[in-house]
Amino acid sequence: MEKNILAIDIGTKHITVAIGSVDENNAQINLMGIASTITKGYQNGVVIHLENFMNSIKNAVDRAQTDAGITETNAVIGFSSPEIYSINTQGVINRIKANQEISENDIQNVLDSAKSSLHLIDREILHIFPQKFILDDQIEVTEPIGMLAKKISVNAHIITCPSSLLHNLQRAIIKLGYNPTALVLNQIAASSVLLTKDQKKLGVILVDIGASTINIALFIQGYIWHTSVKIPAGNIITRDLAVNFRIPFAEAERLKEKECNLINNDESVLKVKALGSRQEKLIKLADLNNICRARIKEIIDIIVIDIINTNINESIPVGIVFCGGTAKLKGLCEYLSSVIKTTPFNIGHINANIKGRKEVINNPNNAAVLGLLEYAKNNIKSNDFTSKIFNNYSEFSIFNDEVKYKIKNVITNIKEKFF
Ligand SMILES: Nc1ncnc2c1ncn2[C@@H]1O[C@H](COP(=O)(O)OP(=O)(O)OP(=O)(O)O)[C@@H](O)[C@H]1O
Ligand SMILES: [Mg+2]
Repeated sequence: MEKNILAIDIGTKHITVAIGSVDENNAQINLMGIASTITKGYQNGVVIHLENFMNSIKNAVDRAQTDAGITETNAVIGFSSPEIYSINTQGVINRIKANQEISENDIQNVLDSAKSSLHLIDREILHIFPQKFILDDQIEVTEPIGMLAKKISVNAHIITCPSSLLHNLQRAIIKLGYNPTALVLNQIAASSVLLTKDQKKLGVILVDIGASTINIALFIQGYIWHTSVKIPAGNIITRDLAVNFRIPFAEAERLKEKECNLINNDESVLKVKALGSRQEKLIKLADLNNICRARIKEIIDIIVIDIINTNINESIPVGIVFCGGTAKLKGLCEYLSSVIKTTPFNIGHINANIKGRKEVINNPNNAAVLGLLEYAKNNIKSNDFTSKIFNNYSEFSIFNDEVKYKIKNVITNIKEKFF
């Protein structure tokens, strides 16, 4: 049976919604509909005006559903926030029945042990990714189920997030009548469609640069080692253009998107709208490109410092793979490659089995929302979408049993009231 998924990527500038249908073999996603609206009521990962925020989501979902010709309410939500915190930690359990095969239950127990090493106050675990399991202090494995061992240890990457942030996001989605099956960090979603296993094994940094957040994920030896969210992002370029040229924000955004080219040394002059008057003024294209280069250098500095602070000693041969709207800045990779010769820079391309219009699939803005579909596909192990996505140990959602029970009740109440 085919399964449909509603993916909602919540960004500072855009809310992008995609509806995908996963085939019977759980192998291919057919992108049935996609739509994007300007975000209102949400800034830097925080809901600041609930009603406006909910209207923006509804608007995008309605349009995606019209595009797809179907209605779907099981939603996977993508977001990012500078308030997330990630850590690599360990867990360990000793098994009484060492002669019995390791089960999913054992895996859950050892991951619970890793989680218990964190003392969370007003925060919740958003994701836990096992990096490797060690059996009896000797054998390193990635999938221990079915093996024998007395002691299981795990190294895991855990991402946490303030509880209030998660609950407010979740509340908005539930109030709209959708069923939030998982909340996924932006770069986790994007990495699931952009990065190959080989790239992760060699060492790669995925960076989604949106309007206000830089979303970073570092993979080495095949597993995720570091995640972080930094500010500012593309908005800082727009703001700087607006301030320097004394032009409206909308005009600055237009110049950045349409006229800027980081590898262009053209000396021509552009006519632009002036601030607070209907008159036009002249600016030099070279000045525009110089400002954009300076801000991009700052953004790259933020990424480099973040990676240096992880204290990894490994080289990262695949370099940086970009996605997000700011990755569309003309000449970005060429310019960075000319300045930093030791690191490869590339725009990410979809490496997952997703069927859809080429221009939609190849748009770096859509990496996160398509990644949400792929993430959901990989976590659905049966037709029972909701329960399975919660139970999967490797990439499970934030919702514990109590929260799930509450969600179920709220959804039932909403349905009873309105249908
Ligand atoms: N062609 C382009 N050249 C340069 N920048 C662009 C281009 N197209 C879009 N952008 C910039 O990309 C940013 C929006 O990207 P995106 O849609 O990925 O952000 P978002 O997901 O809404 O924000 P965030 O993830 O930070 O919350 C804006 O700053 C916009 O100006
Ligand atoms: Mg984004």
